[in-house]
Amino acid sequence: MKRKVYDNHGRLINYVRLAVTDRCNLRCFYCMPEEGIEYVAKEDLLTYEEMDRLITLLAGMGIEKVRITGGEPFVRKDMLEFLFNLCKIPGINKVNITTNGTLTAPIVGDLKKMGIHSVNLSLDTLDPDRFFEITRRNVFPKVMETFDALINHGMPTKINAVIMDGKNTQDILPMVQLTKDYPVSVRFIEEMPFNGTGDYYPKLEWNYQRIIEHIRESYPDLEKLPDPPNSTSYNYQIPGHQGSIGVIAAFSRTFCGTCNRIRITPQGMLKTCLYDDGVFNVRDIIRAGATDEQLHATFAEAIGNRAKNGFEAEKNRQFGFPASESMSTIGG
Ligand code: 5AD
Ligand code: SF4
Repeated sequence: MKRKVYDNHGRLINYVRLAVTDRCNLRCFYCMPEEGIEYVAKEDLLTYEEMDRLITLLAGMGIEKVRITGGEPFVRKDMLEFLFNLCKIPGINKVNITTNGTLTAPIVGDLKKMGIHSVNLSLDTLDPDRFFEITRRNVFPKVMETFDALINHGMPTKINAVIMDGKNTQDILPMVQLTKDYPVSVRFIEEMPFNGTGDYYPKLEWNYQRIIEHIRESYPDLEKLPDPPNSTSYNYQIPGHQGSIGVIAAFSRTFCGTCNRIRITPQGMLKTCLYDDGVFNVRDIIRAGATDEQLHATFAEAIGNRAKNGFEAEKNRQFGFPASESMSTIGG
């Protein structure tokens, strides 16, 4: 029988999000400052061999699903080969990728062929000027090429759009409209205070309720879809549209009760909640010569001591809040 691992709140843990690099070729202002980012030194990153070993070990503990995230995964050299091997690890039945789409168009066919299950494209606007304002880079056409390639290859695709007051709320309706002709899930995400500067907003202007109300004003027939188990989004559809809409309460944290995931950062920090500041550094333990049994025991202990929800994890942060880390080291 397959092993299963439950946390101290009875939640089944079967999903790991692995951030393979903190580097990125964009500078989305909600994620990174324009300048002065200190990237993790190469030797401090988990190597591909270390990541392979970790995922194999976690698969043996009941992890079935992996999301590769970053930074931008495809700025790391030899990423395709790593993904190819990852797709073959016994017990891992879904490998998904989150990408900014700037480098992805030419390799979508390879991803499909090796068995990548789905791709999340981070895209906050359909307007080239606003794209530049938000990401500080002028590569909107490259991202749209990736969108086209994903659709043309029949790759299951989600678009992740972070909604920011005064920045891209005018994009909500055009992005909803994208679901008319494309079989894509467009997900609107509440902005979280992980922008690498420690700046904080006193109140989130566009929370999930406001986003939903805004869509409903223009689409009164917006229909609620059933939310899959462990879904972090509230899901909707407009009758007759091919795609669907999701709203993710990433800041309001309404989904913690069914949280099934852990995270590993590029430098090997295990996070058992998006809002914690790391439980232990698995890279250090590996490099000190830990056996698989020791690693297994360390993971099991961390999973057995998870915060109940993102508010508790935030309160328990050793290094305080607001967080000064960037989403590029957390992986979303
Ligand atoms: N708030 C919400 N989402 C964010 N992301 C990056 N930074 C933030 C933030 N501050 C999203 C990206 C990407 C995913 C990995 O996380 O847009 O889709
Ligand atoms: Fe890069 Fe994604 Fe951060 Fe934008 S949000 S800077 S694409 S890692």
